[in-house]
Order: sequence, then C-alpha cells, then structure tokens
Amino acid sequence: MSQKLDILGGISAEQFLAEYWQKKPLLVRNALPEIANILEPNDVMELALEDNVSARLIRQKDRDPNQWHVKSSPLIKGDFQKPPKLWTLLVQAVDHYSFDVAELWKKFSFIPQWRRDDIMVSYAPKGGSVGKHFDFYDVFLVQGYGHRRWQLGQMCDAETEFVAGQPLKLLPEMDINFDEVLAPGDLLYVPPGLAHYGVAEDDCLTFSFGFRMPNVADMMDRVSDKFADNELLRNPLQDIIRDKVSNIGEITEQELIFLKSKLLDQLQNSMVLDDAIMSLMSEPKYIDNIPEVEEIGVGDLEEAIEEGYKLMLEPASRLLYTDQDDELLFWANGEGVCISDAFVPFLKQLADGQIINFDQELYDQDILEDLAMLLNDSIVMLVPAE
Ligand code: SIN
Ligand code: CO
Repeated sequence: MSQKLDILGGISAEQFLAEYWQKKPLLVRNALPEIANILEPNDVMELALEDNVSARLIRQKDRDPNQWHVKSSPLIKGDFQKPPKLWTLLVQAVDHYSFDVAELWKKFSFIPQWRRDDIMVSYAPKGGSVGKHFDFYDVFLVQGYGHRRWQLGQMCDAETEFVAGQPLKLLPEMDINFDEVLAPGDLLYVPPGLAHYGVAEDDCLTFSFGFRMPNVADMMDRVSDKFADNELLRNPLQDIIRDKVSNIGEITEQELIFLKSKLLDQLQNSMVLDDAIMSLMSEPKYIDNIPEVEEIGVGDLEEAIEEGYKLMLEPASRLLYTDQDDELLFWANGEGVCISDAFVPFLKQLADGQIINFDQELYDQDILEDLAMLLNDSIVMLVPAE
C-alpha cells in the first residue's frame, strides 16, 4: 500500500495526485510543524534589503485601500518608514538563501524537481494582503508565523477580467466557498486558476511553495534557438519542383508541403529537441542567486574528502536527468553536462536531492575531475560534516 504522508493529512501522494493536484484545494492542519519560527518577520525584512534579492513591497492607500502600489526590488530601509496601515512584503526564492528553508522541499518530493519554482515568503502585519487573485501555477501555502485567513473562490482562466487601473491583477469579486484561518504549520494547497485571498490576522509569515508549469510557446522559442544555432540549416533548400509555371502570386500547395516537410524532418531530430527541452527545464529562475565560488582543483577536493565534507546540490541550481535507452543524460542550469560513466549513479543521487558522502567509490581521478567542474560551476556544493 502507498505510504500515507503527514504533509498531505494522512493521504498518500498517489491519492493526492489523483484527487487534488491541479483539481481542487486541500487544507491540512499541522502539516509541516517544523516550519514554525524557521524565520521571523525581521529576517524577511532584512533579506528583502539584500543585494540581488527579488522582493516586492505592496501597499494599500490608507484613504482608499482599493488603490494599490507595488515597489519591486531594490528596496531600501526608507521604503519601510511610515508605511500605510496595510502592506505586504513578498520575498522570492528564500530557499536559495536559507538551507533550513531549502530543506523543506524534501517534504514535497512527490512532485519532481523540474516542476519546482521557488519558495516565496510573505510578511504582512494585521490586515495586509495581496488582494483577491489567482495564479497560473500550483502552490502550497504554508503558514510559518502568526495567522492568515484564507478565502477561496471560483476557478479563473486567461479570459478572467481584472480590476482596471491597478498594478496587480486583482479580481473584482470572489464567490467564497472556503474560509479558514491558518496557524503555524497549517498548509493549504491551491490549484492553478483558483481564486484566493489571504489576509493577515496578526503579524504573519506565509511560505508559498510554488510549482512552475511549462508552456508550448517557451518550448518553441527554445527549440527555434537551438535550430538557429545549427549553421548547416542555413544552407538554402534546393528548388526541386520548379517544373511548371504557376501563378506569380502563389506558393503552390506542393511547395508549401515541401517547405513544411523540411521543417518537420528537422523536428524529428530528437537530439536537438531533447536538448532544447531539457535545457529549458533545467534553467535556473534566479541566475544571480547562483554563488560565484573560488576555483577548486582535484587536490583541494582530496583535502575536503579527508576533512569529511559531503556533497549536495546547490539550492539555486537545477540539475536534471533523463533516461535515454538506459543511458542517463544530465542537464544543469540550462546546459548539457558531460561526465564520466563512473560518476553517473552519484550525480543521479545528487539530482534526486540526496546528500552524499565521499566514500571510497568516489575516490577516482575521473570522478574527482567531474566533481571539481561541477563545484566550480556551482551546480553542486560541499557541506561540512556535522
Ligand atoms: C501571500 O502570501 O500573501 C500571497 C501568496 C499567494 O497568494 O500566492
Ligand atoms: Co496567489
């Protein structure tokens, strides 16, 4: 029988995926008690002021709370002086700055890493909110500090109209069919498109575990970039059917079929297609969050092994693999990764989120060279022994 998960309120991942994922909301009380107090409001404020952090400060006018204002990072201390009564601070990708926060992804391992977006943390004093809205992605909203009242409403889509003249995509109304206050550790799963409205009951931090959804236009874009890089495809196509005189304004049906077939032949080239899709899916969202590291060589690595260091995936990096005819191929941060066969099982474990020890099997010249390359590119990182 499938394992029942506390984070899903005692149902299995399979049941959640079949009944709730992308379909309907799920409220789980005390789903993630360890999230409580990982961060306090001040930590979030301080993080929002740091260089490269992506944050937004959302304010509602005291005189007319229906008038919204959004300021995106860089934020400065002065932005928080004399704030109106209602405001919210949103900080993106907090998992790239806090290992404790990044660790929480492990609780959501029933959804693969390539679908993850980031963990956003919101901080709001009593009454603060980002308004009634919907998102085009799945999100697990987990209360980390204080309390937030969540109301859920109707399903929306790309045709849904928004309140005019505001800097946020706000819904004019919501048919409320769910109304609950979440306390630290409580979780609310909201599927894409579902209208939601969260209002702080007191000083409150809410963690949004966001999952991204690919779209065909982005994939097409990437596919076309990959093909455009291929110089051979710049060769002109031979005019093979110029045997009759046609109308001067016409591309004949056969000519169109011929041109399309040339294009479609290329699209059958699965190496380029796979490379395009895998590089897009492994692309990091916050590239500036990938740390620049001091160059490490094989000798330094050997020292690190002796000191008991372990290896893990750098939280801001993405490492993915796909199985092609029993061969695992890897992509990291938007590019293919070439490694020695001996390292494949270890890199797979790292991509699967495991922390690995430098045991005897890793002590191989090829593996150490691969590892040095991945460390220098900040795809993986060293963690000291506890
Ligand atoms: C919030 O935490 O205030 C907003 C999160 C969301 O609505 O997705
Ligand atoms: Co939302």
